[in-house]
Amino acid sequence: MATILITGANGQLGNELNSASKKFYGYDFIFTDIDTLDLTSPEQTEKTIKSLRPDWIVNCAAYNLVDKAETDPEMAILINSTAVKNITDVIRGTECKFIHVSTDYVYEGNSNVPYDENSATNPLSAYGRSKLAGEKHALIHPGSMVIRTSWLYSTFGNNFVKTILKHGKEKESLRVVFDQTGTPTYAADLAGAIITIISGVIRNQFAFNAGIYNYSNEGVCTWFDFAAEIIKEAELKCIVNPVLTRDYQLPASRPVYSVMNKSKIKENYVTCAVRLREFHTFWFF
Ligand SMILES: NC(=O)c1ccc[n+]([C@@H]2O[C@H](COP(=O)([O-])OP(=O)(O)OC[C@H]3O[C@@H](n4cnc5c(N)ncnc54)[C@H](OP(=O)(O)O)[C@@H]3O)[C@@H](O)[C@H]2O)c1
Repeated sequence: MATILITGANGQLGNELNSASKKFYGYDFIFTDIDTLDLTSPEQTEKTIKSLRPDWIVNCAAYNLVDKAETDPEMAILINSTAVKNITDVIRGTECKFIHVSTDYVYEGNSNVPYDENSATNPLSAYGRSKLAGEKHALIHPGSMVIRTSWLYSTFGNNFVKTILKHGKEKESLRVVFDQTGTPTYAADLAGAIITIISGVIRNQFAFNAGIYNYSNEGVCTWFDFAAEIIKEAELKCIVNPVLTRDYQLPASRPVYSVMNKSKIKENYVTCAVRLREFHTFWFF
């Protein structure tokens, strides 16, 4: 029976993987988070991986505080980069497959066509730089897939959908930027795609192809469009007003455009395409 170790499992994606795993029989899923496996500790990481001997590791652990990372870049590097090195230091030279999750914020955002996996990276933020450094550590292991995703939301944890719902219930109006364009991703869809890839490879339905892959839901919108859709679907009265990024200053710069081309994951792992749903179907209501 294949052993699949999920790290950082108490977050949005980890929880969705936990839910999705219940529909996949015949695999031994092990879920850990900082309390059971602190990936910033090389000793703990080595001890745990060597004792569990997983066939697959899916790393969902991350430091996602994009603005806070500007003043605490060391912490972002420790969790988003050094921790990834701690994993690959242990699995290099083994058959263990590694799926590491990264972000659209590795792209600069000055494109007007969707970014593919060969597009140049140039992160604008400390968070983006720490994630790009983590990708490089992941890819040192020949059995690694890096999946870049964007604008993740789920019923678990904190995310944009929950923030807009909370403020939308409390306030008469909201200001949301309308000059940053990207694609929201329902974490349950990403979790489903990851498990589909793992089970498909185990059952020889797909060949495992290492490297970088983009994955988001389909569709394109601005944060303003996304907020307006959330308010509409929740039937709230709050008015959403568009503002320019320059009038809504935050510590970290974000890409103006981070839409991703998903052709590679669709071509390599055909059935994942069915999970590239339109983003505006919510499971919250
Ligand atoms: N959220 C987004 O909008 C977004 C967008 C693009 C890409 N991504 C990427 O997608 C992946 C999943 O994101 P997510 O939203 O599910 O993240 P999340 O909800 O923030 O979950 C991350 C988990 O990692 C844990 N963690 C932190 N430090 C750790 C350590 N040293 N060892 C083990 N676990 C640790 C966190 O615990 P604590 O809560 O206790 O810190 C948390 O449970 C990440 O790689 C993220 O960078 C996310």
